[in-house]
Amino acid sequence: MTTSSSLTAPRYSRILGTGSYLPEQRLTNAELAAQLARDGVETSDEWIVERTGIRARHFAAPDQTSSDLALPAARAALQAAGVAAEEIDLIIVATSTPDMVFPSTACLLQQKLGVAGCAAFDVQAVCSGFVYGLTVADAMIKSGAASKALVIGAETFSRILDFKDRTTCVLFGDGAGAVVLGASETPGILASQLHADGRHVDILCTPGTVSGGQVLGHPLLKMDGQAVFKLAVGVLEKVARAVLEKAGRTDADIDWLIPHQANIRIMQGTAKKLKLPLEKLVVTVDQHGNTSAASIPLALDVAVRSGQIKKGETVMLEGVGGGFTWGAVLLDL
Ligand code: ACO
Repeated sequence: MTTSSSLTAPRYSRILGTGSYLPEQRLTNAELAAQLARDGVETSDEWIVERTGIRARHFAAPDQTSSDLALPAARAALQAAGVAAEEIDLIIVATSTPDMVFPSTACLLQQKLGVAGCAAFDVQAVCSGFVYGLTVADAMIKSGAASKALVIGAETFSRILDFKDRTTCVLFGDGAGAVVLGASETPGILASQLHADGRHVDILCTPGTVSGGQVLGHPLLKMDGQAVFKLAVGVLEKVARAVLEKAGRTDADIDWLIPHQANIRIMQGTAKKLKLPLEKLVVTVDQHGNTSAASIPLALDVAVRSGQIKKGETVMLEGVGGGFTWGAVLLDL
């Protein structure tokens, strides 16, 4: 029964459970370097570790799609939340490597979960995709449009890498991370903010498209690493401070910082600017590489399951990537 107090009580969203999945094939830098050398592409473990902090990444099997990676991540999050797939009324998949042009990866995942009827759609904001998806789900839950949402980042970036381009192919990996977000009388998500600046389309893009039954343009990832680096460092500090102000908190309130796992130097630079000791930085880039939209929920799940992040602690999530896009979400777990 609806009471007058439940009609007026503020409605928030809260993470009820997390999950993740990494495909079986794991390649260390040395193993990847040996493979690339066979095609005359020169790189080394030393270069990759020193410039990026990456030591290994996982690659999906040839027949594994992003929705295949999303499925075990979603199931693990549902189990951790104690929520049945049938209870979910919103599925958002953040991905830049969808299974198909359409239907959305979210609809394909919905089918694989064996449920039907709830809203399901993809969010395309490249490496900021999970932060975008979480913000949309939070808004839909707060408005009453949804009550229990699955928000997932799932990527098979190995499919769009140019393995002849050593400046990009050593950086990325495949994987998926998921959360179940549920309506709550207490937050949960404290504040968030999203941004984009389409003037920087060219510094990070995969500009190919399907047209007339053919691929037109360049269907592999291109990046001006130094331009991305400079932009990322600037916006990550700014958006974190804006979100803290919105939430009425300060940097001293952050227990854990989970930035997009792209490069350890960008991540450590952001922590320093926020005056956070490096022990408060969650790092999985060393083991996963850059998994784009999957990187933040993957890191969150690893940190929750290892006991690093505990219930009640305050976490800052920060995404940045192609578009150019960026954003942050501050939450109490
Ligand atoms: N192995 C060996 N040498 C290499 C490699 C490699 N894999 N890649 C580049 N080099 C060489 C270059 O050719 C260059 O050689 P030169 O001096 O003889 O010309 C030298 O190393 C230095 O190259 P830089 O590009 O200047 O290296 P930099 O220190 O800038 O590091 C990197 C490159 C790691 C890409 C860095 O710029 C970076 O991390 N940028 C940000 C990437 C990022 O954050 N992306 C996030 C968004 S991803 C998304 O949204 C999908």
